[in-house]
Amino acid sequence: MDLKQYVTIVEDWPKPGIKFKDITTLMDNGEAYKYATDQIVTYAKEKQVDLVVGPEARGFIIGCPVAYSLGVGFAPVRKEGKLPRETVKVDYGLEYGKDILTIHKDAIKPGQRVLITDDLLATGGTIEATIKLVEELGGVVAGIAFLIELTYLDGRDKLDKYDVLTLMEY
Ligand code: PRP
Repeated sequence: MDLKQYVTIVEDWPKPGIKFKDITTLMDNGEAYKYATDQIVTYAKEKQVDLVVGPEARGFIIGCPVAYSLGVGFAPVRKEGKLPRETVKVDYGLEYGKDILTIHKDAIKPGQRVLITDDLLATGGTIEATIKLVEELGGVVAGIAFLIELTYLDGRDKLDKYDVLTLMEY
């Protein structure tokens, strides 16, 4: 299946000159959403994943159906102030600003094999921060899966020690 036909390119959003990749039209389509999810599930099985971790908000959209299909848990990575119990946190650089990401301190058991998911690899800042959180808790990053990679932003340079799957490249 050519997944790109389900992604809508929105010109000049959220700022002039940006061609935003809108995945809501892919999620809207049951066949396309299932196909994309199944590709990541197959990858996760190869990597013998024990847990899925994804950053808000769109990392949940990709990671939760994968975790459900695998029958493993999902641990959310959230912006500061959103998780109710003790967390570990990390600063990260966004494509359009700066922020802090957090995860519950007990979300990962040391040695667990973790699949990290997100919709988009742009500069790689969000995923680099998510990796730091997973590793700080003793998790092993078994693989990282994205729907989309913006290759011209070279986010992959930050991930050269890891195994990465992307379903679409722009
Ligand atoms: C977007 C996207 C990725 C991240 C990619 O999320 O969903 O998580 O940016 O950019 P990067 O590789 O340069 O870090 P955003 O921060 O907009 O959060 P949202 O999903 O909650 O809207």
